[in-house]
Amino acid sequence: MDMAKIGIDIAFAEQVLKQGELVAIPTETVYGLAGNGLDTAAILKIFKAKNRPFFDPLILHSNSVDKVLQFVQDIPPVLQLLADAFWPGPLTLLLQRKTIVPDLVTAGMDTVAVRIPNHPLTLDLLSILDFPLAAPSANPFGYISPTTAMHVQEQLGEEVSYILDGGACEVGLESTIVGLENGKPVIYRLGGLSVDRIEAVVGKVIVTAHSSSNPKAPGMLKSHYSPKKIFLIAPTADELSQYETSKIGVLNFGKWNENYLIENKMILSPSENLEEAAKNLFAFLRKLDAMDLEVIVLEKLLPETGLGLAMNDRLKRAAVR
Ligand code: TXA
Ligand code: MG
Repeated sequence: MDMAKIGIDIAFAEQVLKQGELVAIPTETVYGLAGNGLDTAAILKIFKAKNRPFFDPLILHSNSVDKVLQFVQDIPPVLQLLADAFWPGPLTLLLQRKTIVPDLVTAGMDTVAVRIPNHPLTLDLLSILDFPLAAPSANPFGYISPTTAMHVQEQLGEEVSYILDGGACEVGLESTIVGLENGKPVIYRLGGLSVDRIEAVVGKVIVTAHSSSNPKAPGMLKSHYSPKKIFLIAPTADELSQYETSKIGVLNFGKWNENYLIENKMILSPSENLEEAAKNLFAFLRKLDAMDLEVIVLEKLLPETGLGLAMNDRLKRAAVR
């Protein structure tokens, strides 16, 4: 099996991208599978590598608002407030696109998703490029997003020319996606920027991410972020009785309930800190998925506050078969 080169050589990454090839990039949320966002041939390679359906649009990444304004019409004032507060950071804005943006990026829609990610290596790379990077999460379509360079290597090592290794992602959840409807900000995907932090800047926002699936936004489809193994949330003892104890893996938020004796357990945050849990969530799910188990169990959903909302959203989708 061909493996991608892994390193921190930004000049090499630039060269690869200029040739129309793909590079995996670290961000504070998850690793992205990046290509020249203005080059249709490179974008086609992204869809092919991920086995991603063309109706699922991509996010364009840049390092400055000036660059963003080269491919969007404008940034409406209320969204500008969010950009000022949270860029670079885990916030994606849906903005009216300019015609320079290929249809393949937006799935033919008139909005384009844009983000300034907060990772020093990737910001350095973006600052020397004269095009934005289109980058979905660097996982096969429907699987758990990668939060380390090794996660990318394991699944897409044959598809990318280079993996820029920026260490483990600090936030660990994909960006929060915000657009505008009738002049009001709307959250389309819960993510690494919590609803509270957004509302502290622009007041009450509508969250539509939990509503039924919108075919134009599969990050919001019901089944997504899924391990290969059966994943159960708060199963009854009866449901669990069909599995041998040694074949049950358990994901738990914090303190361990001693009545619930199972061998293979992973604790997201011993001190029950939601940020720490978010940082560990995808990596732990992947670990459990790779172990010799028949089923992965989440003891119970996380608290519905802060990043708990976004984590519960991912966990519920991971449990859909
Ligand atoms: O944190 C992140 O956002 C990561 C890193 C790499 O930046 N990227 C990421 O990309 O999660 P992806 O492709 O896995 O998810 C992007 C989501 C998709 O669900 C897509 O449907 C939605 O953004 N999206 C993109 N453009 C859109 C648009 N114009 N309107 C509505 N949804 C859009
Ligand atoms: Mg994704």
